[in-house]
Amino acid sequence: MSEKYGYNGSTDGVPSASTHIGTVIVTGANSGLGFEVTRALAEQGAHIVMACRSIERGEEAKQKIESEFLGASLTVHELDLADLDSVAAFAEWFKSTHDGLNVLCNNAGVMAIPRQETADGFEYQFGVNYLGHFALTAHLLPIMQQTTGESRVVMQSSVGHRNGEIDFDDLQGEESYSAWDAYGQSKLANLLFAYELDRRLHVAKASVKSLGCHPGASTTNLVHYSAEQGGFRLDLRLMSLMNAILAQSAERGAEPMVYAATDPGIEGGEYVGPDGLMNMRGDPMLQPSSERSYNEELARRLWDVSEDLTGVSFELPGPN
Ligand SMILES: NC(=O)c1ccc[n+]([C@@H]2O[C@H](COP(=O)([O-])OP(=O)(O)OC[C@H]3O[C@@H](n4cnc5c(N)ncnc54)[C@H](OP(=O)(O)O)[C@@H]3O)[C@@H](O)[C@H]2O)c1
Repeated sequence: MSEKYGYNGSTDGVPSASTHIGTVIVTGANSGLGFEVTRALAEQGAHIVMACRSIERGEEAKQKIESEFLGASLTVHELDLADLDSVAAFAEWFKSTHDGLNVLCNNAGVMAIPRQETADGFEYQFGVNYLGHFALTAHLLPIMQQTTGESRVVMQSSVGHRNGEIDFDDLQGEESYSAWDAYGQSKLANLLFAYELDRRLHVAKASVKSLGCHPGASTTNLVHYSAEQGGFRLDLRLMSLMNAILAQSAERGAEPMVYAATDPGIEGGEYVGPDGLMNMRGDPMLQPSSERSYNEELARRLWDVSEDLTGVSFELPGPN
């Protein structure tokens, strides 16, 4: 990535703009994009809390990064987004051990898996990709607001949000379930939330901004996990072939989130993704998301429903 994106990933000894990133939480930091975001920010001197559902996988990933960057400042802590008690416990631990939070990278996710439920009875993709991050953000917003300087919330979405619809009559896919529709719904919800949060932060004149991003198509464990769960009917070898043609590396796919997390000039409410073929690969750039993702009425309704479902509220004034 070049410096025109405000990201100096080089190790040429020139202090980068993001030397002052401070403290970052990355969810799903042990694998794929979360791992690469962690790696890139560690190289830039951030202190990163790797929020992982498996401590073992988290520690393994941490060791890999530490062996590459001596002095990397990393802590692994357990977070299972499929369990709101785990989300609350993670946030409590973080608030009792840290003075501030500069960037919250809401990255973890699952894709197109057969219907299953979280500990709280939510459809798993909606629960993990969206509701878990909604609750996590609400718990952590007070410490972000108290943090010196500016803080950011960055939501990992997907081009798949474009096919998404919020089915308020059957949010949990109990009456009818399509693995891809549920994924699209969760990824649209990520963006509706990112933009609504930014509008409310703006009204509150908060020093926190909220943004969205997506990685295009990137080679990670996402498809394999889906296949393992029995959600992906396509043969893995065919998927690998498609990945080889279409997808970029996880390192490249992480760049939009790194950009959203660190670019000094980016505004709240922006959306970052690759600039190449069908926005599937390439350098990160600002781009519009779907028209539906900017629907404020839809976003407000989803916000209210999400507060009811999770039992977690934001201490923010409503939108104007
Ligand atoms: N790869 C792509 O082309 C692509 C495209 C569009 C969007 N995305 C989005 O990018 C994000 C990262 O995915 P990835 O491609 O990097 O896939 P990945 O390699 O499978 O990584 C997913 C991460 O999420 C974690 N995770 C899953 N369920 C969790 C839970 N209940 N609680 C906490 N963490 C959980 C996984 O933990 P475990 O390792 O323990 O399973 C893993 O660390 C997802 O939100 C995905 O929707 C990816």
